Amino acid sequence: MNIIAESLSKNYKRKNLPDIKVLKNIDFEIMSGQKIALTGQSGAGKSTLIHILGLMDRPTSGKLYIDGVDCFAGDDKYLCVMRKKNIGFVFQFHYLMPDFTVIENILLPVWNEKNIKLNQAQNILEKVGILHWQNHFPGELSGGEQQRAAIARALINNPQIIFADEPTGNLDRITGLEIEKLLFESSSETGSTLVLVTHNDELASKADKIIKMTDGKIML
Ligand SMILES: Nc1ncnc2c1ncn2[C@@H]1O[C@H](COP(=O)(O)OP(=O)(O)OP(=O)(O)O)[C@@H](O)[C@H]1O
Ligand SMILES: [Mg+2]
Repeated sequence: MNIIAESLSKNYKRKNLPDIKVLKNIDFEIMSGQKIALTGQSGAGKSTLIHILGLMDRPTSGKLYIDGVDCFAGDDKYLCVMRKKNIGFVFQFHYLMPDFTVIENILLPVWNEKNIKLNQAQNILEKVGILHWQNHFPGELSGGEQQRAAIARALINNPQIIFADEPTGNLDRITGLEIEKLLFESSSETGSTLVLVTHNDELASKADKIIKMTDGKIML
């Protein structure tokens, strides 16, 4: 799916102070199946932008088109359905449910069809290399393994777009590289669009395109 941002802006209100302008008239186009590295210094607005692209937050102004559909013209229920159908999101910290086993965590987004999806969930766990952990709890896994589980959970819906916001932030360099490689491979295999926030220049150079943010704007 392709993604077009048209003059996206996001302001946060502050009491008795001027609004903070976090995103300032952002424009870009991401083509279907492209791998994008989103880079920029801390505070540049990367997380704010990727949350809006992932339909988890609304912009203050501007438009976002996914495959030509003006997403924010829809209500919250529409955004929720669109997200569930098309989008996989991997966070900096995995957000796995500690009281559910690994396989249950992967099945959570599709809980009402968990029996039908069990095989698929196991295949994905095998692909990300942690099938042997399926009946264990997240707390028993290493940081890298937990993040692999979070990637598996993001893939269970066969998303056409994967967003990952510094998925390697809590990992050592080597494990982090493996996780980023896994996301790249998964995107290549399925033809899904990937937007990855990364500080790794080597990996960014392998992306189809780098979107660099500075102070809420895109540097071209
Ligand atoms: N809910 C909020 N209310 C007010 N300001 C916010 C809010 N969320 C983010 N900001 C501000 O927006 C700016 C951009 O934040 P954002 O988290 O998008 O940056 P980032 O590029 O992801 O940084 P990092 O690399 O540290 O994760 C920061 O100055 C931050 O303080
Ligand atoms: Mg961030």
